[in-house]
Amino acid sequence: MSQINPQWEKEIAKRRTFAIISHPDAGKTTMTEKLLYYGGAIREAGMVKGRKNSKHATSDWMEIEKKRGISVTSSAMDFEYKGHHINILDTPGHQDFSEDTYRTLTAADAAVMIIDVAKGVEAQTIKLFKVCRMRGIPIFTFVNKLDRHGKDPFELLEEIERVLGIRSYPMNWPIGMGSYFSGVYDRMKSRVELYQTGSQHEEISFFPVEGAEDPLIGDRVGQELWQQLQDEVSLLDVAGDDYDEELIAKGELTPVFFGSAINNFGVQTFLDNFLQMAPPPSPKKSNAGLIDPYSNAFSGFIFKIQANMNPAHRDRIAFLRICSGKFERGMSVKHVRLGKDIKLAQPVQFMAQDREIVDESFAGDVIGLFDPGIFQIGDTLCVGQSFEYEEMPHFSPEFFSKVMVKDAMKHKQFQKGIMQLTEEGTVQLFRTHPMEELILGVVGVLQFEVLEYRLKAEYGVDIMLTRMPYQIARWLEGDKAAIDALKNKIVTDRYGRPVMLFESEYQLRVAMDKHSSIKFHESSLGL
Ligand code: G4P
Repeated sequence: MSQINPQWEKEIAKRRTFAIISHPDAGKTTMTEKLLYYGGAIREAGMVKGRKNSKHATSDWMEIEKKRGISVTSSAMDFEYKGHHINILDTPGHQDFSEDTYRTLTAADAAVMIIDVAKGVEAQTIKLFKVCRMRGIPIFTFVNKLDRHGKDPFELLEEIERVLGIRSYPMNWPIGMGSYFSGVYDRMKSRVELYQTGSQHEEISFFPVEGAEDPLIGDRVGQELWQQLQDEVSLLDVAGDDYDEELIAKGELTPVFFGSAINNFGVQTFLDNFLQMAPPPSPKKSNAGLIDPYSNAFSGFIFKIQANMNPAHRDRIAFLRICSGKFERGMSVKHVRLGKDIKLAQPVQFMAQDREIVDESFAGDVIGLFDPGIFQIGDTLCVGQSFEYEEMPHFSPEFFSKVMVKDAMKHKQFQKGIMQLTEEGTVQLFRTHPMEELILGVVGVLQFEVLEYRLKAEYGVDIMLTRMPYQIARWLEGDKAAIDALKNKIVTDRYGRPVMLFESEYQLRVAMDKHSSIKFHESSLGL
């Protein structure tokens, strides 16, 4: 391999690309805004589009889609901060929750998990966490809303370990909570950051101390809270986990920070620490082995395709994670699946509210490519020797519907529409045998509505959806004869792989016990 240009190397090394995972309302939008604010990407908090939009009721999704066009809340935002180039990949929640949300995590090098101190670990966080775990990326935790009364911090850490199966290392520790919230004690730097109510302060207010026993703390926060802090920190020091960079890098230990995003408290401290600890772009698996991000040759993969619902701009955008080298506008790249060269003429990047044309980008960045219908999720684009990145996994849908075309005369358009729309990846398609009925699976129920609308609007096809009682899909692997014997009970996915559908965890467990020669995979990763 030729020597990499030192300038490129510097650019790639300063990239930090991460996704924020959380349950709706934990504070992801607020946190994103504060981060963008620190990076100077927005002038004031409250500018990130989609905050209210993202909470829309199911029935008015179309209006919102029309208004927002391709929203930043479902793409990537980038900014410079203290010598780093940060890419935040957004993971849509609320009703927008879809497989895209999972897939976005395949383009991230780290994840930030936001937990509401009062609610603890919630359903959507668990799902997203599992995907991060599968990829083995580091996970950083921010416990939010300390200005409100919530769970005891020890109870929270125990919950994180019990529910998510990850150990934790609190980087700082709260002094009081709710109306008594006074600040955090920084265990690493031995200093206290004082809480200032509702401040939009630019400077962090902290003072150095000689450990939690320093009487200076008592002078500032009161004797009672100081005593409590001492007790809790000494318990942590004795019973808590050790700080271990290796375990953090593998996603087996999560550094935990406490704060209040809305009050701008603890966010900057979090960001500064995160940037020190989070990894730059790392090598990615391909059928030609690991691809070095610092390689001279450009490469990347498509992890998401988004169609614009606005009839005035009916375009599709394919989101590409650059995995190696440098991208330049107008460059010719190989579209490996199609086996042809294409020119990337008008790539866009998304900054807060606007799309802007990008001239150059580096490994770690995400760019949007206008898609005339040539891209599929998982496609590899590269320069030089051809190879393909690992297949993009499919994850178990949670809602299933049988789909039929109302007017049999429109069968052809229906087939075409359904194939194209499922290629975008928010809806999965399964076939029953021998009847060849079509079953759709989604992780967010709104996607049924979106599909129905788009088939009508774009292909002129009316469909009939019949909800099915399934809640779980498992990809089957193993003894072929045993899988064949289940024939009537299995469906196949788009690639013809056998999948079994279940109505409950109980049903799944029974099947797993009964068919011990078969593996039941939660996702199609590696199959
Ligand atoms: P999300 O993207 O994860 O869904 O959450 P979002 O940031 O929209 O925050 C959800 C709600 O929690 C918002 O209130 C937000 O103001 C509030 N919030 C975020 N961080 C904190 C915090 O540190 N402390 C407290 N007390 N509240 C916080 P909302 O009333 O739903 O919306 P809004 O009217 O404030 O926009």
